[in-house]
Amino acid sequence: MSGRWTGKRALVTGASNGVGLEIARRLAEEGTRLILPVRSRLRGDAAARSILASVPDAEIDIRDLDLARPETVTALAMALRAEGEAVDRYVMNAGVVLLGDAERHLTEQGLELHFQANFLGHYALTQLLLPLLRRSRARIAVQLSLAASHGRLDDLQSERRYHPLRAYAASKRVLGIYAYALAQSSIAGIWGTNVQLCHPGVAPGTGIAADARKRASGATSRLVERLGSTPRQAAETALVALESDAVPGQYYVPSAVFELSGAPRERLAPKAFTNPREADRILETAENLVDAARCA
Ligand SMILES: NC(=O)c1ccc[n+]([C@@H]2O[C@H](COP(=O)([O-])OP(=O)(O)OC[C@H]3O[C@@H](n4cnc5c(N)ncnc54)[C@H](OP(=O)(O)O)[C@@H]3O)[C@@H](O)[C@H]2O)c1
Repeated sequence: MSGRWTGKRALVTGASNGVGLEIARRLAEEGTRLILPVRSRLRGDAAARSILASVPDAEIDIRDLDLARPETVTALAMALRAEGEAVDRYVMNAGVVLLGDAERHLTEQGLELHFQANFLGHYALTQLLLPLLRRSRARIAVQLSLAASHGRLDDLQSERRYHPLRAYAASKRVLGIYAYALAQSSIAGIWGTNVQLCHPGVAPGTGIAADARKRASGATSRLVERLGSTPRQAAETALVALESDAVPGQYYVPSAVFELSGAPRERLAPKAFTNPREADRILETAENLVDAARCA
C-alpha cells in the first residue's frame, strides 16, 4: 500500500490492542513500516494478523518489550541502535491502569507498577533511542490521559497511600512532564525531532480497565459508551500529533465536550506538564532509578 508516509518506519508501543492497534493500522494504511514491541507474542501476532487483514501488504516487525521489565527495554533499544535503521515515527502509547485492584503491585526492582510501566519504561526506552531518533529526525507522539493533569507529584510511587487511579494519574502526569521537557530540549538543541503530546479522550472499547468496566452499572457504561469514541476514532489525536508541524510541545486532544471524544484539536500543554523545576526533579529521579536498575 502506498500513502503519505510510504517507506517510513514507525515504532508504536502498546499496539497489541485498543488505541495502539488502531494507530498502527492507520500508519500501515499510509504505507508506514511497523515495529511493534509487545509483551506477549501471542497478542502481538494476533494484532499483526488483524492489521494484515485490512492492509495485506503491511510490513510488521514484532519485537519483545515489557515496560515493567527494564532488561527488555534495554534489549529492544540496543537492538534497534545496533541495526541502525531510521525510526521516523515513534508513539509512546502503551499504558496500564489496574482499576478495581486494591493491591499496590511492585516490579522485580521494587517500583510501583503504574510508575514503571507507564512512565519509567518509556523514559528509559526513549533516552536510549535518542541518538537514533535524532538522526532520524523522528516525529514523536506521547499518549497521555485526561487524568494526567490531575496526577499528584508528592507521592509518585504511592508509598503513603495507594489507589490505582491516583497511581495511574501520577504516572501519566510525569510522562507528560517528560514529554514536554523532551520537546523543549529538541527545540533548544535544534534536534529536528518533533515531540508532541496527546490524549485519546475516552475509548470504552479497548482492553484498558476492562474488568472494572464490566463491573460498572449498566447506566454508567451506557453513558461512557455514548460520550466516548471507538478505538479507531481515539487513535486520531496521536496521528495528528505525529503529522504536526507546530512548535514541539503542543497537546492534541479530542474537541468535543470535556475532551471525551471528537475530532482532534491542538491546545497548549497544561501547566501540570510545563514547570521546569518539576521537570528537573522528575528527570533526575528517573535517571537515578534507571541507573540503579542497570547496576542491579
Ligand atoms: N481507552 C481509554 O479510554 C483511554 C483513556 C485515556 C488514556 N488512554 C491511554 O491510551 C493508551 C492505550 O490504551 P488502550 O485504551 O488502548 O488500552 P489497551 O487496549 O489495554 O491497550 C494497552 C496497550 O498497552 C500495552 N501494555 C500494557 N502494559 C504494558 C507493559 N508493561 N509493557 C508493554 N506494553 C504494555 C498492552 O499490552 P497487552 O496486550 O500485553 O496488555 C496494550 O497493547 C494507554 O496509554 C492509555 O493509558 C486510554
